[in-house]
Formats: sequence, C-alpha cells, structure tokens
Amino acid sequence: NKGNYEHYMQKEIHEQPESLTTTMRGRLIRGGSCKAKSVLLGGLKDHLKTIRRSRRIVFVGCGTSYNAALASRPILEELSDVPVTMEVASDLLDRQGPIYREDTAVFVSQSGETADTLNALEYASENGALCVGITNTVGSAIARHTHCGVHINAGAEIGVASTKAYTSQIVVMAMLALAIGGDTISNRARREAIIDGLCDLPNKVREVLKLDAEMKELAKLLIAEQSLLVFGRGYNYATALEGALKVKEVALMHSEGILAGEMKHGPLALVDENLPIVVIATRDACFSKQQSVIQQLHARKGRLIVMCSKGDAASVCPGDSYRVIEVPIVEDCLQPVINIVPLQLLAYHLTVLRGYNVDQPRNLAKSVTTQ
Ligand code: UD1
Ligand code: F6R
Repeated sequence: NKGNYEHYMQKEIHEQPESLTTTMRGRLIRGGSCKAKSVLLGGLKDHLKTIRRSRRIVFVGCGTSYNAALASRPILEELSDVPVTMEVASDLLDRQGPIYREDTAVFVSQSGETADTLNALEYASENGALCVGITNTVGSAIARHTHCGVHINAGAEIGVASTKAYTSQIVVMAMLALAIGGDTISNRARREAIIDGLCDLPNKVREVLKLDAEMKELAKLLIAEQSLLVFGRGYNYATALEGALKVKEVALMHSEGILAGEMKHGPLALVDENLPIVVIATRDACFSKQQSVIQQLHARKGRLIVMCSKGDAASVCPGDSYRVIEVPIVEDCLQPVINIVPLQLLAYHLTVLRGYNVDQPRNLAKSVTTQ
C-alpha cells in the first residue's frame, strides 16, 4: 500500500522518521539522573563478551548493506577497540579470504536472502567464526543461520532501491558499537552524546526531508547529464558510495562515489566546467580537508554541488557558482543517516523526471538469490 505516495521508493524515503523510531524502540535506555544511558540489543546480550574478546570484526555484505557497514566502521573502531575490516561478500568468496575462529563476522542484509552473503556466512561458519546477522527479515536464511543477531525492524521494504533499510542498518550498527564498547569514564560523554543523538535522529530526519522540493529543482538541472560524481570521506565516504549507487540504479545515470582523499590520485583529471560534482562537507574531523578539496575543485572550474551543515553555506561556498544543500548537524557518526536523505530524494526525482521505473529498475531484483 503506497498510501498518498506515487511510488514505494518515495514512501520509504519519507517514512524514515518512523522506521528509525521502530528500529530503536525498546533498545535505548536513557535512565534517570543517576542511571547511565545505555543500549540493549536483546539478540546480542549473551554474546557481547565473545565479541569483545574477538581478534577482529569483519563486516560482510553487498551493495547498500555493505555501504551501511562502511558508514558504521569508524564508530565501531572507536568504541570497541577491536580492529574492523570490510568484505564485499562475493569478493570474500572469490578470494576464499582469511576468516578465523577468533573472528566475529557480521553479515548485513536487508532481505536476509542474498546468495553471496549467505554463501559467505556458510564459509565463515565453517571456519569457526562467531557469525552475527543484521537483517530486516525475521525468519530469513541469514537470520536463521547466524549464531545471533539484530533485526533492524524497519518494516517491509518494497522498492528495489534500498532506502529506509540503509538508515536503520546504520542506526543498529551504531547501537552495536555502543553495546560492544565498554562504558568507561573517558568515553562516557561521547556515548551519551551518541545516545541523545539517536533519540533525536527521527526529528532531524524529518527536518532534512523538507529539502524534497529543493532536490526536485536540483534534479531538473541534472536531468540530461551523463554522469555525476560524489566526493566524500571519513564517516561520509559511505554516503558518497551509497548516493552514487542510488543515482545509477534508479535514475540510470552513471555516478561514482569517490573517496575525496584519492582525488589527486586520478579523479581530478575528470574535473572540468561540465561534469557535476557533489561534495559532502558537513562538520566533522574531516571538515577542513573537505574545504580544501572544494577550493581545489573550484580552481579547476568544477560544477560543484556542496552539501554542508546548516549555517555553513556562506563560509564553505564563497561565490555564486555553487549549488548548496544545507543539512541539519547531528553527532558525527550519525551524520551519514542525515546526509544520504537528500541524495535519495535526488535519485528519486531524477528517475521520475527521466521517465524511468522507480520501484523496479531495469535488470534488477529486490533480493539477489543467485550468484
Ligand atoms: C525480541 C523479539 C521482539 C520482542 C522483543 C522483546 C523476535 C523476532 N523479536 O526482540 O518481537 O518485542 O524480543 O524483548 O521475536 N537473530 C539472529 N540473527 C539475525 C537476527 C536475529 O540470530 O540476523 C536472533 C537474535 O540473536 C535473537 C532473535 O533472533 O535471539 C531475535 O532478535 P531481535 O528481534 O533483534 O531481538 P530483540 O530486539 O530482543
Ligand atoms: C541497492 C540495493 C542492493 C542491495 C544488495 C544487498 O539499493 O538494494 O545493492 O543492497 O543487493 O541486498 P540485501 O541487503 O538484501 O542483502
């Protein structure tokens, strides 16, 4: 049921304040004045000790689910003190890459049925790793075959392009980082800021959704383009990859997410006055580096669309040759949840304006159950 919406993808983008609320329901403990704020993930509580003791955490997923894990990697590294590595499921299988008994392997999958992820799970399980699932589908193969896990509870996702599952996956993995990480005096303020940030996140998503009309205008400008680059780094490298994935899979426009730190190692050669480039430059530890990326792209006459934090437009984008997307600021590790929303909206409007099928893009299936 699409309700008042024309497409499932549109409905699922706009229902993210609600899906995120459901994802967090019963899992955040805010406590009174003397009680520490904490998280409770029922499916993991008996396994946290083993996870903390593991030598490594390995994220495994495909497509959007891989991107969600990538967005969550920095906060998991920061809070858990366990090294975190990333594996695209098919590549892990192609290489028969190393997975050990001392590893915790985390399988991220909206459907819980993706063949590559499921085969990687079987492989990791045979190698003796603790296998944790993060899935949206109760009773799915991945939920059944993992040793433990967390349901993201985002509600059924029908549009082939994953939107609300992505943001709920990031929120679950932020909660996972809080659950694995010890509550020490030195990190208490950080933990509480993240928990407060999670509580307020649905409101902030509601706020960023108000950019809908603005994103439609931007889509009109880009309708006939051949290509769109998206530059991000740090927490928002994943946002760049995921934004580009949305644009290519539904709007059928070439798009590439680029790690901004790699700009000078090749991608800079593409920059001219014609190619549109989205640069994500919201406030976090990488902000000043992104400012210098903007200056360098500008010096080469790049057609820039800058995503920055509210109030930063004037300082981040001097001159009028820029388009600006101003987004609400949240705790740095949660910023990917906010920053992907305008790009989801952009991909959606581009698709409708270009006349393509939004909910069932050419050649794609909702769950990829063959290798
Ligand atoms: C569970 C109930 C929820 C109830 C809540 C009350 C289910 C599915 N969930 O939620 O309805 O409101 O208790 O306390 O009945 N699991 C895996 N692999 C996965 C995902 C989950 O093994 O990929 C396992 C978990 O380890 C857990 C079970 O499935 O044993 C349920 O997980 P989850 O729904 O996340 O647990 P709760 O949030 O506690
Ligand atoms: C993109 C998309 C795909 C899936 C991928 C994994 O919008 O939907 O990239 O994310 O096929 O699917 P799941 O998460 O079901 O394992």
